[in-house]
Amino acid sequence: MNFKGQHILSTAQFDKEGLLEIFEEAKKMEKVLQDGGSDVLSGKILATLFFEPSTRTRFSFESAMNRLGGRVLSNADMAATSSLKKNESLEDTVKTVSKMVDVIAIRHPESYSVEKTSNFSNVPVINAGDGSNQHPTQALLDVYTIWKEKGSIDGLTVGMIGDLKNGRVPHSQCDLLKHFDVKFVFVAPDALKMPDEIVKELKSVGKEVVEGENLSELIEEMDVIGMTRVQKERFESEEEYLKYEGIYVLDAKIMDKAKKDAIIVHPLPRVDEVSVELDSDPRAKYFDQVGNGVVVRMALLKKVLGY
Ligand code: CP
Repeated sequence: MNFKGQHILSTAQFDKEGLLEIFEEAKKMEKVLQDGGSDVLSGKILATLFFEPSTRTRFSFESAMNRLGGRVLSNADMAATSSLKKNESLEDTVKTVSKMVDVIAIRHPESYSVEKTSNFSNVPVINAGDGSNQHPTQALLDVYTIWKEKGSIDGLTVGMIGDLKNGRVPHSQCDLLKHFDVKFVFVAPDALKMPDEIVKELKSVGKEVVEGENLSELIEEMDVIGMTRVQKERFESEEEYLKYEGIYVLDAKIMDKAKKDAIIVHPLPRVDEVSVELDSDPRAKYFDQVGNGVVVRMALLKKVLGY
């Protein structure tokens, strides 16, 4: 894959070769970090334009750019503090910022908004999460974590549990994992199940997909236990959200039924779906994922900037 100058908008852009190229580069970035960073992106500027709250994604992009010697212009609350407040359009905003920087990471609550506005940028735009549609860099770091921890992705049974309807991360993970010999196990209540078009797409490329609601039964075969948060911000009302709050809680009792070498991944933030008692379980990898996010974004920034 040729990443130089490309917008990174969707996991659909990645083939297996491209994924493994990013993973190998991220592995190199782990060594760069151990050695104190690099100045390979010295003189380059990243803008992070966030229209939705974030802790990991924004800081991780910014950390990645800083670790490679680049600089960052950051706005964590574009909706409230930029000239959008004066009715400037999102398109003009992105066009304007693209005249000042070399790469832009955008998070926005509307699905496909990042893709639409990328047409107005003359520098690469990276989707840092658009509504319930996609979160490609999160999925990249999740699959990198699986690859790193398990040594290979082929042959694994990957579970995804929780709000599979609204969660942009499981949607993006499916798009990447379909390039490998993976069995999918989706655990969700009927109202929050994985969208039919994603299940159909996985089956059309020959993947085995199991869907159910009973976590304590289905967990037994999972090599990867992918927990997700119920996406409160995507529900029409608090009342509707409360029907599903706490519907799946991974705790030590359920983990007794899981494989001894399974891994637990979660994009974070967590609410109550992974018990804090599991943080010391060696199978819990969700805080390691945060570190993996930095090296994966270092790799991606290098690639889109042509290094
Ligand atoms: N995983 C993730 O996207 O976290 P933030 O919302 O904190 O960026």
